[in-house]
Amino acid sequence: MKSNSPGIFISFEGIDGAGKSTHIERFAQLLQERYPNREVIISREPGGTPLGERLRGLLLDAPMNLETEALLMFAARREHIAQVIEPALQAGKIVISDRFTDASFAYQGGGRGLSLSKLNDLEKWVQSRPDGSLLQPNLTILFDLPGEIAQSRRSKVRAPDKFEKMDLNFFEKVRQEYLRRSQEDPDRFYLVDATRTPEVIWDDLNALGQKVQIDV
Ligand code: TYD
Repeated sequence: MKSNSPGIFISFEGIDGAGKSTHIERFAQLLQERYPNREVIISREPGGTPLGERLRGLLLDAPMNLETEALLMFAARREHIAQVIEPALQAGKIVISDRFTDASFAYQGGGRGLSLSKLNDLEKWVQSRPDGSLLQPNLTILFDLPGEIAQSRRSKVRAPDKFEKMDLNFFEKVRQEYLRRSQEDPDRFYLVDATRTPEVIWDDLNALGQKVQIDV
């Protein structure tokens, strides 16, 4: 895995109901066991910092103008990068984030229709590093499945947030944008067929986790 910082940055992505959350913890544990000298941290977006978590509360609850939503997502991300991700990567840690910028392309871009050029600008603005490079995950694990199956899987117990209330057509567009991003940068993405059972998906991730090579 290529990385231009001492640490490693991994993101998990997918439409709501794809089942990624149950696997993140296990994947982190696997890497921690393989690399006991490296600290593994799990974070999430929107969120990951005290300010980011406050913005998350607004983002998942309050209806807002599309540009406002994108700007707040990236504002929370900037804080997450500055306070958590970059310092951890510089210290050689393994950072696992439950969602990152691909989610903004998928949800605000694909789902709600924000122009890709605006998203590209925000990505450059927020993820530029002092050396001119762009911070990106070294590996993105994308849980892919049709919107219809995801919808039927979404928890009926917990009250749905603003995004989880969206219709099938929205989630199909989210899915397509995730797939487009993965085709644009195939070396970064690992696609998981999330229509399978959690056990079979875990076998897949376990094999992937065994292959991840990090200098010790
Ligand atoms: P999610 O990560 O699915 O958390 P939970 O499993 O607790 O619901 O919720 C985050 C929601 O935010 C999800 O619906 C996707 C959305 N989102 C965006 O729309 N844009 C973004 O840039 C990010 C990071 C998330």
